[in-house]
Amino acid sequence: MAIVCKSVGEIEKMRRSGRVVRQVLESVIALVAPGVSTMDLERAAEKKIRDLGAKPAFKGYYDYPCVLCTSINQEVVHGIPSEKRKLVAGDIVSIDCGVVLDGFYGDSAVTVPVGVISNDVRRLVEVTEQSLYKGIEAARVGNRLGDIGAAVQEFVEAAGFTVVREFVGHGIGTRLHEDPQVPNYGVRDRGLKLHEGMVLAIEPMVNAGAAAVRVLEDKWTAVTQDGKPSAHFEHCVAITKDGPFILTD
Ligand code: MF3
Ligand code: CO
Repeated sequence: MAIVCKSVGEIEKMRRSGRVVRQVLESVIALVAPGVSTMDLERAAEKKIRDLGAKPAFKGYYDYPCVLCTSINQEVVHGIPSEKRKLVAGDIVSIDCGVVLDGFYGDSAVTVPVGVISNDVRRLVEVTEQSLYKGIEAARVGNRLGDIGAAVQEFVEAAGFTVVREFVGHGIGTRLHEDPQVPNYGVRDRGLKLHEGMVLAIEPMVNAGAAAVRVLEDKWTAVTQDGKPSAHFEHCVAITKDGPFILTD
């Protein structure tokens, strides 16, 4: 599949989708507290998406049942909201949301602490978020995809954590997932050249322990094999002649 570069006007539309995703995430983050179920977050997100005139991007995508992915602690990505999963103080929960507005998609994720969390887990969350910004910094005309992956990977590994390989970021536009794939690992100066108008969803998934993951029997929830926690942050970023433009903040 070809890579679709976006015009300035299309990027402006994607900025509007990105803003909706951000507003949804902010409203859901405000609800995160011990005793709240991940289905409570899901319901709030779905209402907010529709109130803002958008549609959920994930619900129905390969039969995924919800508008959010909510992944707790050792869950890496694609955790399915459930009435039975109540947040507990000390947990971290990754909240991933996608919407489509006026034909263009937005996709973003954050990892949020529930009550007071341990220093070790807080550092995992901070390093993961910072690694996303390292990747974004490298999303520049003339750089290559490997520069993004290497920037994330080097930062994560220097902090003593590991980068998940089985899931990657992606192009995004009139579809949720477009080419190219955007790995969170790589070699500088290698891979596809980045051009003005490319829009990439950069989404590092970082494990406290080993990088290995497996998918549960529900066919969606990815968890760390060693049971240690994992964090996830994601932004959509347009590559412009003036540098990276974050669409989902
Ligand atoms: N942000 C994730 C991704 O880009 C979430 C996808 S969930 C799915 O892959 F249900 F839509 F698959
Ligand atoms: Co994504």
